[in-house]
Amino acid sequence: MGKSIIVKDVTFQYSEEIILKRLGFKIQEKTFISIIGPNGSGKSTLLKMIARNLEPCKGNIILGERDLREYTAKGLAQQMAVVHQGTEVAYNFTVEDIVLMGRHPHLHRFQREGSKDIAIVKEVMKLTNTWHLKERPINEISGGERQRVIIARALAQEPKVILLDEPTSALDIHHQIEILDLLRRLNQEKDVTIVAVLHDLNLAARYSKEVLLLYEGNMITMGSTEEVITVNHLKKAYNMEMIVDRNIHTGYLQVTPISVKK
Ligand SMILES: Nc1ncnc2c1ncn2[C@@H]1O[C@H](COP(=O)(O)OP(=O)(O)OP(=O)(O)O)[C@@H](O)[C@H]1O
Ligand SMILES: [Mg+2]
Repeated sequence: MGKSIIVKDVTFQYSEEIILKRLGFKIQEKTFISIIGPNGSGKSTLLKMIARNLEPCKGNIILGERDLREYTAKGLAQQMAVVHQGTEVAYNFTVEDIVLMGRHPHLHRFQREGSKDIAIVKEVMKLTNTWHLKERPINEISGGERQRVIIARALAQEPKVILLDEPTSALDIHHQIEILDLLRRLNQEKDVTIVAVLHDLNLAARYSKEVLLLYEGNMITMGSTEEVITVNHLKKAYNMEMIVDRNIHTGYLQVTPISVKK
């Protein structure tokens, strides 16, 4: 399990302005990497390119051994699941049907879901604490519940890579930790590569093996959590004074904002 991702000299622009500037890095297979950076720095754009929702204007992206462009839609969905920022769902299926859609990349054309698919769906819904919602219409549940359902659908895909854009932004503290613990378990026990955009630097520090820091479309740095989450790097990106130390109880790195420079 696990797949590496190589981003090779990638440039992207929506219109005239260049949003991502000649980015190049490798995401190792089986890693847990967080992408951090201020609003508008290009995190979602980068994630969308890795998910092949957007195509680089220049450069290319390799997943495993092959260029992303070479995968069929179904082939890509067998390798990679994506949880985008904002979880609006256009159609009003039940929660269980939405999660069941995660199994489609593994079915033949016209093949109905079988007992194995149903069992996987039940398992991931239990893991994400969404099983009790299964009969509810997807657009009639809370934002945080919906976020967990979309994560359940991604897990049902049994991918080698999961891309998540702010997966915990709508979750209460209990569910934040529950979902991130779950992602960590998938990473450690099933070797799934996790790539998550996270705003909460303390959560990024606590859960990631590696961190990539973006600022105005450039990579300021990438490396182990300890290497990236430093006072100097954070100051460059966020223009703020911060304290970076370790929590005396947990030993995790912690970031405390002090003041915004004027
Ligand atoms: N569809 C679009 N068309 C034009 N410009 C866009 C589009 N989406 C994003 N942008 C611009 O591209 C830049 C990067 O946006 P992106 O959404 O990647 O940032 P982000 O780092 O994910 O920010 P946030 O933390 O707010 O989610 C921003 O300047 C944004 O205004
Ligand atoms: Mg974003």
